[in-house]
Amino acid sequence: MDDDEKLPVHVGIIMDGNGRWAKKRGLPRSMGHREGAKNLKKLLKYIYTKNIKVVSLFAFSTENFKRDASEVSYLMQLIEKFCKDEKEEFIGQRVRVVFSGSSNNLSQNLLKAMHELEDATREFSDKILNICFNYGGRNEIVDATRNIAMMVKNNEIDIDDITEELLDNNMYNKLPPLDFVIRTSGEMRISNFMLWQSSYAEYYFPSVLFPDFDSREFDIALSEYSKRKRRFGGVVVDEKENN
Ligand code: IPE
Ligand code: IPE
Ligand code: MG
Repeated sequence: MDDDEKLPVHVGIIMDGNGRWAKKRGLPRSMGHREGAKNLKKLLKYIYTKNIKVVSLFAFSTENFKRDASEVSYLMQLIEKFCKDEKEEFIGQRVRVVFSGSSNNLSQNLLKAMHELEDATREFSDKILNICFNYGGRNEIVDATRNIAMMVKNNEIDIDDITEELLDNNMYNKLPPLDFVIRTSGEMRISNFMLWQSSYAEYYFPSVLFPDFDSREFDIALSEYSKRKRRFGGVVVDEKENN
């Protein structure tokens, strides 16, 4: 079997543990986020050497607004800087960047930087980076439901036209289902990440904190994925043969 056959098409990364990384070193939480962003840039470069079509990153949840204003504002500045600094890199790598989430409570400058990055990479289609920022999975489903209800109200579609495919098409971005979700830092929960898209995803929870989740750790994750037997409710061939 070709090695690429065992690679996930769509990988999600819940980038968790920046705060604990900083705390362990007696540093403010913001330094953990800075280190996390530094690591992300290196990790993405490595991921682009692989034949992986879509990467979704959980960068800021709608619930993260519960944090201290100073931490929230640091994270906002960090993503704005990331959008500007990495634009040429994404163009060079021919990666299309899209954002998933709500624009509520985001500054005009940040929204502008996000739109500019999306616009600058819109022409690419081989690789997609989906950044979930100010994102909540339940909210995404509510927003899709609202869109669909509006279409019914305007007589554009019938109730019978409401299918899984229609819901898929009404998520923030049209993406293939998640094959593999990695959450760093040892927390074993999904915290509202891509609920619709992860129905049959494989999960992996390495204990390493995100700033330390490097190319080596990513390879370990991929090797774990390649060993999983995905059944999708059916029976895999080699199990059938044993019966
Ligand atoms: C993940 O790291 C980054 C964001 C949620 C923005 P955390 O900030 O959640 O780090 P811990 O979980 O407190 O260690
Ligand atoms: C999930 O991490 C969100 C991101 C990584 C952006 P959190 O640290 O916010 O999740 P909880 O609070 O531990 O569930
Ligand atoms: Mg956390």
